[in-house]
Amino acid sequence: MSQPKISIRGVTKTFSVRDANLGRPSQFTAVSDIDIDVRAGEFLTLVGPSGCGKSTLLDLIAGLTKPASGTILLDGEPITGPGLDRGIVFQQYALFPWRTARGNIEFGLEAKGVGRKERRARAAEFLDLVGLSGFADRYPHELSGGMRQRVAIARSLAFDPEVLLMDEPFAALDAQTRESLQEELLSIWQRTGKTVVFITHGIDEAVYLGQRVAIMTSRPGRIKEIVDIDFETREGDLRADAKFGEFRHHIWTALRDEVAAAQAHEREAVGSVG
Ligand SMILES: Nc1ncnc2c1ncn2[C@@H]1O[C@H](COP(=O)(O)OP(=O)(O)OP(=O)(O)O)[C@@H](O)[C@H]1O
Ligand SMILES: [Mg+2]
Repeated sequence: MSQPKISIRGVTKTFSVRDANLGRPSQFTAVSDIDIDVRAGEFLTLVGPSGCGKSTLLDLIAGLTKPASGTILLDGEPITGPGLDRGIVFQQYALFPWRTARGNIEFGLEAKGVGRKERRARAAEFLDLVGLSGFADRYPHELSGGMRQRVAIARSLAFDPEVLLMDEPFAALDAQTRESLQEELLSIWQRTGKTVVFITHGIDEAVYLGQRVAIMTSRPGRIKEIVDIDFETREGDLRADAKFGEFRHHIWTALRDEVAAAQAHEREAVGSVG
């Protein structure tokens, strides 16, 4: 088998948090003993209950934080920090407030050394792709939440990294915009062979986009199960395929159990305080 694009082995991430009961900081385990490989050119979607550690895992792959233990390899090499090979769309739109929509998209291209004229052209192309051609000169505070998120998506796509790390990128969008960006993302992925790790709370979205869906347990998050989304064909309307409903139901059931576990855990924690 060829070398995975991303290889995650035994990864645990802890945070130091204040603990009012103890009166001193304690270690909080956000994800525990994560093992998963992402193949080169694969579209992997990641689902799990709120707070299970999905964003934490994405930050680790992005190189923004370091694991407490375990290893993460990119093309066989340990990740030591952020890099131009990985583009991130954060759960909270992280735009530079002092740059316009166009300026935000051009930023990554400047870092890559793309010339001025081509930067302009690419920024225009991707603003158009996300339906914001008329808003190139607006600053983030002059855009709605969903528009800001679309600028962030355009920025990550224009920058053309080998690996796209996307944290609920379409969550704040209306259904029509979401569907059209899902289509665009799939077509860009098919055209360019990027490796995509995509977090979502939408089970339909996970099944529709992913070649595999990784399901995480409730906190501390582990990989509970990886579901192969093996449609016979990807032609036509996948959502109308009988298998779509089967995948959906399977993942829904697995998630329901995890959400119930997470809620029981919270109640226990509250009980022990009160
Ligand atoms: N910097 C931090 N310091 C302390 N705890 C943190 C930090 N970042 C995340 N956590 C905790 O780690 C756990 C996992 O958080 P994370 O943001 O990864 O969850 P998530 O699965 O992305 O949730 P959601 O679906 O709500 O976005 C949470 O309990 C959170 O409180
Ligand atoms: Mg998150």
